Amino acid sequence: MDKFVILGGKKLQGRVKISGAKNVSLPIMAACLLTREEVCLKDVPPLSDVHNMMKVLERLGTRVYFDNNNLKIKADVIRGEGPPVDLVSKMRASFLTAGALLGRRGRVKISLPGGCSIGRRPIDLHLKGFRALGATTEEACGYICIRAKALRGDRIYLDFPSVGATENLMMAASRALGTTVIENAAEEPEIVDLANFLNAMGAKISGAGTKVIRIEGVEELGSAVHTVIPDRIEAGTFMVAAAITRSRIILDNVILDHLKAVAAKLKEAGAELVEQNDGSILVSGENCSRPLDIKTLPYPGFPTDMQAQLMALLTLARGRSVVTENIFENRFMHVAELNRMGADIRVEGSSAFLTGVKKLQGFPVRSTDLRAGAALVLAGLAARGCTEVLEVKHIDRGYYHIDEKLRQLGADIQRVKMEEEEDTAAGEAVEHSETLNLIENTAAPR
Ligand code: EPZ
Repeated sequence: MDKFVILGGKKLQGRVKISGAKNVSLPIMAACLLTREEVCLKDVPPLSDVHNMMKVLERLGTRVYFDNNNLKIKADVIRGEGPPVDLVSKMRASFLTAGALLGRRGRVKISLPGGCSIGRRPIDLHLKGFRALGATTEEACGYICIRAKALRGDRIYLDFPSVGATENLMMAASRALGTTVIENAAEEPEIVDLANFLNAMGAKISGAGTKVIRIEGVEELGSAVHTVIPDRIEAGTFMVAAAITRSRIILDNVILDHLKAVAAKLKEAGAELVEQNDGSILVSGENCSRPLDIKTLPYPGFPTDMQAQLMALLTLARGRSVVTENIFENRFMHVAELNRMGADIRVEGSSAFLTGVKKLQGFPVRSTDLRAGAALVLAGLAARGCTEVLEVKHIDRGYYHIDEKLRQLGADIQRVKMEEEEDTAAGEAVEHSETLNLIENTAAPR
């Protein structure tokens, strides 16, 4: 398992190209199961999550390969009843194949995706939507069997604007008889891009990006060539890299309109974001030190996927900040790690209360999930001395070559391969200090 070794305090400069979006690549890859014809996807980042989705598609009998930068997918035959259990447990986004397989052939058997470190991640809204389309859903021995003689369009109200449920239901409804209306749908840019891709295949979807999406089912879907949108969360992460190191950098391949809430908060903190004539974004973080109050919300509110990164920035703000996580029930695991670096953060329920400190101190910390790991890298860029971020496999799931991109900008960050025993020892060291930290905190309430 690899670790990142970061020597903090370096200013960043220059420009970096943002990759294609992970969180639309995965549903779009699943949507390729809806047609027998070959599909060509451009700008899909070769992340570990993308490679896992490729394995899921291969195990379903699909031909999928990278041809230079183009991802070619041809699902002319479907093998088996659904994605393999080992891959679904490894990557819960595999559950996005459910809607496509249901739309393609009216049945799927798939293991329950289970929770992850940030929360329970239930699928009740997905299943309720499939049933509204005329499917039956039966759970047995950790699997769920979803079947429909014929999917029929209907009106579906989502109790929560779930991104995954909206995506799964759009895919299933695209091949249903009649019209489906999804109300209280998720409005994320990834929903719009998936709808654009499905329409390029011949679907008839309107209203994506609003709370009401209308899908007129069609008999067949065909081939398409599609370029995925830039990754707004990677872009936001690099914006915070400029802000936390008080630097000025340029980002290429960014749709600023997808980052309105993040841009507004960074400007409120003192950053400047200027769109250049060539479409790039100049980020000036030299004076980005004001404290903030942040509440995560469904799009277009502040994205939960940027919560940890902004928290890293706010550990060094001049004053007190409050960060409230309203989307997932356990998305503060970066707090203990940031406190180990000298941050002053106290968690009460779904809110974290920060008092800015003058400096963070480099320390061995552990990445617990994708965005928490990114936050620790950002903290390491600003910390005094050396920070080691363990278990970077979490970060590699959602950031393509983040260490190389940061090095290009002038950061002192190295990826170091760890032997198994060394990795365990390092992990135990972090756990040991975690225990000490717990004792210390218990002994001396703030
Ligand atoms: C997508 O997850 C993203 N993943 C997540 O990004 C992102 O954090 C999330 O949307 C919210 O924006 C991908 O796109 C692959 P949800 P998803 O369904 O679809 C509850 C990252 O870091 N809920 O909108 O699973 C759920 O418990 C990842 O890139 C139900 O209650 O998110 C959660 O509290 C992390 N029942 C809330 O909705 C359901 O049936 C949001 O979940 C489904 C969801």
